[in-house]
Amino acid sequence: MDADEVLTTRFSAIKIGEPGPSDDVLATALQAGARAPDHGMLRPWKFIVVRGPALDRLGDAFARALKIREPGTTADELERAKQKVFRAPVNIVVAATVEPDHPKIPEIEQVVSAGAAAQNITLSLHAQGFGCRWRTGVAAYDATVKAALGLKAHDHIVGFLYVGTALSVTPEHTRADHRRFTEVWSTAAPAST
Ligand SMILES: Cc1cc2nc3c(=O)[nH]c(=O)nc-3n(C[C@H](O)[C@H](O)[C@H](O)COP(=O)(O)O)c2cc1C
Repeated sequence: MDADEVLTTRFSAIKIGEPGPSDDVLATALQAGARAPDHGMLRPWKFIVVRGPALDRLGDAFARALKIREPGTTADELERAKQKVFRAPVNIVVAATVEPDHPKIPEIEQVVSAGAAAQNITLSLHAQGFGCRWRTGVAAYDATVKAALGLKAHDHIVGFLYVGTALSVTPEHTRADHRRFTEVWSTAAPAST
């Protein structure tokens, strides 16, 4: 696929299965993540690759966090929360490791940079033939989950990227035409009325 094709055919996988990406595929995708634009060269990113038996640890963190948020949650509900991480063979947690009080670079720019890194990762996986779904949900904003991942409370989880082989995809007819969101300004001043 050339670059335009990668960019204009990207999709989120709805159902994701085995096989997951190899180490080489992951390394290429993560390198694309590290190529994200970044004001001030802060590198405000952390990519945590969770796979194999480690998915259990992430699932436990989801369940523990839910139990703290909602102490009345039943064992079945906790197990369901834990099982969510097994929806794909690999999970890449993309976090913005921000300096909230940076004198020059506002926090939002650091978060946007981490979002760009996440998008670069998803695009690279797509180019390499792998499916991905970017998810957040309450777990992304939960202090217990952040701590379990070694993040600080002020860091931001911008996404859990569920990665593997795409087994079903977002229907093509839902795609938007860019003209819905685009204005072109090409004169020095607005036309007078
Ligand atoms: C920051 C962010 C968070 C998202 N969180 C979720 C989520 O928690 N659950 C979900 O089903 N989709 C989530 N999505 C949307 C999907 O990743 C996907 O983009 C959407 O279903 C549209 O499909 P498409 O990517 O093929 O256009 C999120 C997207 C972004 C950018």
